[in-house]
Amino acid sequence: MPETLRVELGARSYDIIVGGQLLAHAGEYIAPRLKSRHVIIISDETVAKLYLHRLTSALEEKNIGCRPVIVAPGERTKSLEAFSGLMETLLEQKPDREATLIALGGGVVGDLAGFAASVLLRGVDFIQMPTTLLSQVDSSVGGKTGINSRFGKNLIGSFHQPILVLSDVSALATLPKREWLAGYAEMLKYGLISDAGFFAWLEKNAGAMLAGDAKLLTYAIVRSCAAKAAIIAEDEREGGVRALLNFGHTFAHAFEAETGYSDTLLHGEAVAIGIILAFRLSVALGLCPEADLKRILSHYEATRLPASPLSIRPKWNIDALMEHFTRDKKTKDGKFTFILTRGIGKAFIAENIEKDFIRAWLS
Ligand code: NAD
Ligand code: GLY
Repeated sequence: MPETLRVELGARSYDIIVGGQLLAHAGEYIAPRLKSRHVIIISDETVAKLYLHRLTSALEEKNIGCRPVIVAPGERTKSLEAFSGLMETLLEQKPDREATLIALGGGVVGDLAGFAASVLLRGVDFIQMPTTLLSQVDSSVGGKTGINSRFGKNLIGSFHQPILVLSDVSALATLPKREWLAGYAEMLKYGLISDAGFFAWLEKNAGAMLAGDAKLLTYAIVRSCAAKAAIIAEDEREGGVRALLNFGHTFAHAFEAETGYSDTLLHGEAVAIGIILAFRLSVALGLCPEADLKRILSHYEATRLPASPLSIRPKWNIDALMEHFTRDKKTKDGKFTFILTRGIGKAFIAENIEKDFIRAWLS
């Protein structure tokens, strides 16, 4: 049986349904939530080849016809150019305000389609059907949508909550190993932010889970989504506590920008490295016991998560990294905000961090 949890946001509340073989039964979950039968699926070429037919058949069983729009896979599709092309293609289909978009794919498709839904005819409903581990534990939940600019990641976007998240863990069977690990970094993040018990569970179970054990996966995805849903319910638009979900991300976004949002460094890999740097910075500031950092590093070794930016590139341009930190959405009055930690499960928002200190620490 699939598990259901609810994101409590008043009129914008919605269910997250997690389980096996949900794509084949998607019509049962989707049909009752539609305002009209006008549905447009947005997917990428890789995911469409694997799962589009399963989804369209499931919808047809409920007499929902739909026209897919297929985009190129990869982070570069989260660009203004791709977004503009997508909007024109969507408008060609003459949607009305009761239309619903379905995002079938990973975080790239979800962020792009969600942003499109938020501005198409000034806003239509959308459904997230995440097919990567990263999107099932993170990007499909919480309503952050957007695209990248040459000035940085996710700098153009909106908050637009989906009306349903349908996570079929069976779809992960075709996910490349590298993408599994990238997604795992975002799952690990929840344990490291505020749930030391979950981190301990992951230390014990990550091996079997990452080998595809559906029961362990469902448990860990639901636990991750529950942690995120609780934060979203408290702070939907990141006025405060939601910033904790950006643990490691200030570093991650800078490395991603420096590598051109390319396959050189996947988002989740950048997050994995960023988390270690957040721990290292916390240790350097005397905030966090070094033993906690060592424990995490040994888990990284066991799971083969990347821990150092030097494993990606032997040398980084410090000025360029500093420039990216300055453009980070959390930067206020020229001072940095980092998510730091007092130990495993004890992350907090640290404001007013002096630029000169960070520059010296990086050098
Ligand atoms: P992705 O969407 O690029 O997917 C990774 C690759 O896997 C793609 O090539 C895709 O075609 C392929 N793929 C997807 N599902 C597959 C499957 N089941 N089988 C085989 N191949 C499959 O990457 P991602 O890691 O899912 O998402 C990363 C994006 O998510 C980044 O742009 C990041 O900024 C964003 N993100 C957003 C939020 C948010 O809150 N909105 C949170 C975290 C990350
Ligand atoms: N992934 C960070 C957030 O949703 O706020």
